[in-house]
Amino acid sequence: MKPIQVGLLGIGTVGSGTFEVLKRNQEEIQRRAGRPIQVTMVADLDTARAQAIVGSAVKVVNDARQVIANPEIDIVVELIGGYGIAKQLVLEAIAAGKHVVTANKALLAVHGTEIFAAAHKKGVMVAFEAAVAGGIPIIKALREGLSANRIQWVAGIINGTTNFILSEMRDKGLAFGDVLKQAQALGYAEADPTFDIEGVDAAHKATIMAAIAFGVPVQFDKAYVEGITKLEAQDIRYAEQLGYRIKLLGISKRTATGIELRVHPCLVPAKRLIANVEGAMNAVMVQADAVGTTLYYGKGAGSEPTASAVIADLVDVTRLHTADPLNRVPHLAFQPDTFDQAMSNLPVLPMEQVVTSYYLRLRVADQAGVLAQITGIFAQAAISIDAVLQREAGEGENQTDLIILTHDCVEAKMNQALAQMQQLSTVLAPITRIRKEELN
Ligand code: HSE
Repeated sequence: MKPIQVGLLGIGTVGSGTFEVLKRNQEEIQRRAGRPIQVTMVADLDTARAQAIVGSAVKVVNDARQVIANPEIDIVVELIGGYGIAKQLVLEAIAAGKHVVTANKALLAVHGTEIFAAAHKKGVMVAFEAAVAGGIPIIKALREGLSANRIQWVAGIINGTTNFILSEMRDKGLAFGDVLKQAQALGYAEADPTFDIEGVDAAHKATIMAAIAFGVPVQFDKAYVEGITKLEAQDIRYAEQLGYRIKLLGISKRTATGIELRVHPCLVPAKRLIANVEGAMNAVMVQADAVGTTLYYGKGAGSEPTASAVIADLVDVTRLHTADPLNRVPHLAFQPDTFDQAMSNLPVLPMEQVVTSYYLRLRVADQAGVLAQITGIFAQAAISIDAVLQREAGEGENQTDLIILTHDCVEAKMNQALAQMQQLSTVLAPITRIRKEELN
């Protein structure tokens, strides 16, 4: 059967992995897809480097639009990244009737609504397994494997760079900046590492997963995003003493009033499997009504793990491209003509309305009545305390750390209580607040 012809836009780390794995496993991939899948054209600014990777049988150009304009190309794989030229090229490829495979989480989290609408209108597929958690087939799991379920929440370690940094800080007691340099050298970090450490990359991925899990539009602008740059080594140690690990989690949760969509550092009980996901690995936990809890674990970045997801999409598109567009799997799991009823009723909640529990560290004067003042504020706010840990003041010291774990309460109430506590003359430094999720 005539091969499906693929054009790559960009042949960096993921593109070269895709080319290599397609070549290495071509026979099995063909048996799965029903016909050969061949990269026949590549666009990259560095044509000499690209040609060296793909060999002389593949046409290499420096203009992506030549790939899009080529009538022989069935599927365009966008591996450029970002929302600039990549957005334009994806829309042009769709307009030219090409199916698109992309690893571009930023693009879909921000412009997904426009891109999926264009693809729907044109009757082409936009596949994006590689955009979330690299090699872990989490899009497939959420969109197809769990389609019987009403999904309650999704919580994931979906940024390898920050998980690597947190693991190294905990294991080796290293400082944040030193570990970041290592992560960059190992190739985990985004081109702009602030996207990793400020939680933006994780929020892109959480936004996409929330859309698929709950049938809401992609709404990155409504996500609460907090990274790990302000995290201190002492909090990692105190958390450990209390039986928790600190992870950067991407969380989306269905509540009675809307959807929580948030990325922030989070205490997780050390006994949960997800708390033991170390280094650059990713893991996503899904809580759903019929199946219960499921956990997906694997490499969230890297050349061949991400290529694995890109090629799975190529196989899917190859199998389905002749199917009636109405009979294909919807881009965001729910049929788009049900969006109006199903999607509009679920707002993304502002952070003040999120309900969670908290770890607090207060630098306090070591004197009579301090604990009573603080617990008094909690009592007034009806916030229930779960555990208290007070470090014994060192000899000659007249101040100490007071660590408090609370039960669930609404964020707005906690903000008010913290503002009140911060006013106390016995609270000597800005209070550290890290959210906590039991994930049970
Ligand atoms: N910078 C990302 C990470 C790469 O660290 O997980 C994969 O999206």
